Amino acid sequence: MLIRPRRNRKSQGIRNMVEETRLSVKDFIFPMFLIDGINQKIEVSSMPGIYRYSLDLMLGEIEACMKLGIMAFDIFPAYPEIKKDKFATESHNPGTFYLKAIFKIKSTFPEAVVMTDVAMDPYSSDGHDGLVENGKILNDETLEILGKMSLAQAQAGADILGPSDMMDGRVGFIRSVLDKNGYTDVSIMSYTAKYASAFYGPFREALDSAPKMGDKKTYQMDPANYSEALIEAGLDTAEGADFLMVKPALAYLDIIKLLKDNSNLPIAAYNVSGEYAMVKAAAQKGWLDGERAMLESLLSIKRAGANVILSYFAKEYATLVKK
Ligand code: PBG
Repeated sequence: MLIRPRRNRKSQGIRNMVEETRLSVKDFIFPMFLIDGINQKIEVSSMPGIYRYSLDLMLGEIEACMKLGIMAFDIFPAYPEIKKDKFATESHNPGTFYLKAIFKIKSTFPEAVVMTDVAMDPYSSDGHDGLVENGKILNDETLEILGKMSLAQAQAGADILGPSDMMDGRVGFIRSVLDKNGYTDVSIMSYTAKYASAFYGPFREALDSAPKMGDKKTYQMDPANYSEALIEAGLDTAEGADFLMVKPALAYLDIIKLLKDNSNLPIAAYNVSGEYAMVKAAAQKGWLDGERAMLESLLSIKRAGANVILSYFAKEYATLVKK
């Protein structure tokens, strides 16, 4: 035998040299759940180790993460039912707690990268990402609301907006609202290929944001589809997106690779709540080595082509590699 691939696996030193993919804390964005009030830290029951924080405690958590090298945070507010309405008015109410929180986070940690989500669901009494009329999700009417929400988030100091709503034309619409108002520096990380997935379950529990009626299949993509991701990628690129995102990550590694191979934009992948919950649940039962399963999952996302990984494992990963 002339070629024996095992020679390059014979010791840790050699394996280190030939390692093709390396994760870094720099790859991560840490999604965090925010609630109103003070001194609140409530665990999400389906996401062990993940909490909903009030702003005062979130500031401490962000500081701890930054000490571990995590620089980017995606802030998701949870609103009580009484604050929700059909038009998601709270999403752009200047006095609302999440906008004040973003302002406070940015003024406390100017070097932190703060990302926000653009979609109606946390603020909508219908629990949908768009405006609902007679059981239908209206596209163009939703854009107007997303535009107001985006502007409010930019005014609060967000560095990156993440439209997660999957309405047609929203990246271009948001870009023009931002630019018209002087926010040419605010970035857009588009949820380009966002699938109608069962893996968002724990997130909807965290925000109490599940749709009251129907599902999200008329706007989120069909998990069966591959080529369609390229249509979305083409549109988002033409409309001015700075990053393209694939979501979820693990069941869609082929889509991450597809976008990586077909775009020069940085590709992000969202390792979603259900993917986190699966590993945690199996680890709690002693059925999987949770730490190794975490590392292998995160590595696979990077190997598939993701430059940026949004993951609830971000802090745990950073803590582990710091040791
Ligand atoms: C809101 C939004 C969702 C997630 C991110 N932004 C839920 C959904 O579309 O129903 C999911 C994140 C996760 O599961 O971790 N549009």
